[in-house]
Amino acid sequence: MRLDRFLCKQADYSRKTVLQLLSQRQIKVDGKTIQDRAYSVTEFSAIEIQGKPYLPRIARYYMLNKPAGFLSATTDPVHRTALELLTDVDTSDLHIAGRLDRATTGLLILTNDGKWSRKLTELKPVGALQIPKVYLVETAYALSPITEQRFAEGIYFKTEDVTTSPAQLERISETTSRLTIYEGRYHQVKRMFAAVGNRVVNLHREQVGEIRLDSNLKLGEFRALTLQEVNWFSLEVDP
Ligand code: URA
Repeated sequence: MRLDRFLCKQADYSRKTVLQLLSQRQIKVDGKTIQDRAYSVTEFSAIEIQGKPYLPRIARYYMLNKPAGFLSATTDPVHRTALELLTDVDTSDLHIAGRLDRATTGLLILTNDGKWSRKLTELKPVGALQIPKVYLVETAYALSPITEQRFAEGIYFKTEDVTTSPAQLERISETTSRLTIYEGRYHQVKRMFAAVGNRVVNLHREQVGEIRLDSNLKLGEFRALTLQEVNWFSLEVDP
């Protein structure tokens, strides 16, 4: 593979950074300084970047059953963070793929694979594969009869000047429902319910795409994603 493609793909460097490093003579392959971006490398080439050997990173993916009270952040001076719950795991290069509010519980996905998480979370253009996110919602007041229809039509968010994608609501009881949305906008579920005169009192994420929260995980527990859970997504987005 070409050196520039290898470094972008495997090492997660941006194209611009790779070109800068090459022109500054900061990259060596098998002991030789390389400036040609098309130089051919393999997984066995000994690559040095700025004097340090490049050690290929191993992609890691986890699901956590997030308890309330933990921030979806890597560090925070005040609150405990979801990353602190991944005991005995090297969390130094992990990030959160799709945040949850501090009070929200349920499925939180963590990884060190930036490309994968961007595909999972970025807002998709109309017509692209939309990834469902399923939430169990408890509201302060009984669900009004117009809720399903309003959510299916989309709710207008003035701040962003956008209308949410059609969402599906399944009633479970007077105040409990299962909501499927296709974006991850700021406080999206709370704002959707607020728009129909209700208030979310409990929110729990059950599923993102084909990744369902493992029912064996108690609040605060985590496990690595299976190959199938990781690859479902790659197959869907890179047919
Ligand atoms: N929507 C919200 O309002 N909060 C969350 O945590 C997730 C989705």
